[in-house]
Amino acid sequence: MEKLVSLCKRRGFMFQSSEIYGGINGFWDYGPLGVELKRNIKDAWWKDMVTGHDDIGQLPGAPSPYEMTGLDCTIIMHPQVWKCSGHYDLFHDYMVDCRESKKRYRHDQIQGRWVEAKGKKIFATAGSDSESPEADIERQALKFFGMRSKNADELKWDGALVSLTTVEDFDQVLGPDAKTLGTLTPPREFNLMFKTTIGALGGEADAAFLRPETAQGIFVNFKNVVDSSRVRVPFGIAQVGKSFRNEITPRNFTFRSREFEQMEIEFFCHPDSSPEWYKYWRDRRYQWYLEMGLDEKKLILREHHAEELAHYSTGTADIEYAFPFLPEGEYGELEGIAHRGDFDLRSHMEGKLDPATNPMTVELNEEGKPKHRGSGKDLSYRDDLSGERFIPHVIEPSAGADRATLAFLCEAYTEDEQPDDKGKMQTRVVMKLHPRIAPIKAAIFPLVKKDGMPEMAQDIYRTLKKSWNVFYDEKGAVGRRYRRQDEAGTPFCITVDGDSLKDQTVTIRHRDTLDQWRVKADDLTDELRKLIG
Ligand code: GAP
Repeated sequence: MEKLVSLCKRRGFMFQSSEIYGGINGFWDYGPLGVELKRNIKDAWWKDMVTGHDDIGQLPGAPSPYEMTGLDCTIIMHPQVWKCSGHYDLFHDYMVDCRESKKRYRHDQIQGRWVEAKGKKIFATAGSDSESPEADIERQALKFFGMRSKNADELKWDGALVSLTTVEDFDQVLGPDAKTLGTLTPPREFNLMFKTTIGALGGEADAAFLRPETAQGIFVNFKNVVDSSRVRVPFGIAQVGKSFRNEITPRNFTFRSREFEQMEIEFFCHPDSSPEWYKYWRDRRYQWYLEMGLDEKKLILREHHAEELAHYSTGTADIEYAFPFLPEGEYGELEGIAHRGDFDLRSHMEGKLDPATNPMTVELNEEGKPKHRGSGKDLSYRDDLSGERFIPHVIEPSAGADRATLAFLCEAYTEDEQPDDKGKMQTRVVMKLHPRIAPIKAAIFPLVKKDGMPEMAQDIYRTLKKSWNVFYDEKGAVGRRYRRQDEAGTPFCITVDGDSLKDQTVTIRHRDTLDQWRVKADDLTDELRKLIG
């Protein structure tokens, strides 16, 4: 992972936000290569899910043909949206503060062990950023008891590593960065939504939130889309855009950030066929990551257990990837696919529903009135063929563009041994990105900077530039130019040499196999189209 992080900075895939001021935790910028990579991923998703979707044919595994359309909503929405969606009441983590170190931790992410020495028993802890919590906890306990590491076997451990959530009495807890006991505050709720103020007056009545997901913009526009675009259920609405969550512990590069992009679909279908649509989307989305180059051995589809599901849902699955920063055998979520029943549309219509009720009823306040009033707008759907009126059920495939980008970068990073210009074996770093998402599709080189080779190479560059992001480079040894493109993930390098001027052919070099073959310069656009797909 360290090698990848360093390559990302060195080659301009990713930088820490505001780096010259020391950075800002949980925020990342995409550099010249990164912006192309991420845009290609979002474009591939949009093309495969929306614009390239065949609205009239029936796709394998789909219960019927279906339509797809898109939307682009605002980041700040009416505050009532978040009350009815449940984010206002429920979207929080518990956190604890340390009075001594002034640090803040997520309650469930502090781990610790009970340990006794010199007649005193304490709960020694490590924070979520600890790479070896057991070792850090031992060091912390030795320091607290004033013991040397050679006397570590005098520490009496009671039980294995457990979360702080198992501990009731914080007086015996030694915080991860504290020297004295009992410095952690009791856990407090912390809403993950970023709050902001609309307008100049700035009172509580003007408070609004940066959206924590793009999904709600789709639900509140359901009626607008149905009324304006003639789509018929079943159909999906897709949206790509920024979301914001004030994560307590952002970490693992871009994996958990405070500002990130989501690629979400809300798929509206008849309640009777919703379990089949759920299975379709779960499998379709899993397959998409494989098609884009993730290794099947590192990608799992994890179905949630029946007891984890809300009663109105027939299934939720996570697509998870074995990110290299995770311990062996652990996976991180790339995308969730959830059967959400009619919870969202009904909540925006009638008022926030209580998900614990069955059948679901509106959650009431102490006065017996709706706790959060809905829009009162009719969000039901009338099938004009059958005449049936119903509230569609929703299947939600919800992906993260930054997590997908990170997974493709992790998958692509490869080292191999290749001979350099003098035939000496050297370690080559190559980013084996799928050609569809590679930031630069081809690099064009004149072998040497003379004899008409640059002119021919520049003509080729200008022709190819009309179709793709290609790169022209005439500086330095050709071997070094290849290496730079290998690190950037460029799948094809095109070289103009002495023969090119005689027979109008050029060589294409394949980044992964290193195969080289000659093609007519006039055929390059067709050849690359076949190769890139
Ligand atoms: N509308 C459903 C929803 O937002 P989620 O599981 O909270 O579900 C969906 O988020 C996806 O968004 C995740 O699978 C992940 O890819 C991405 N995501 C969520 N929180 C993130 C964060 N803090 N940083 C980066 N990506 C995140």
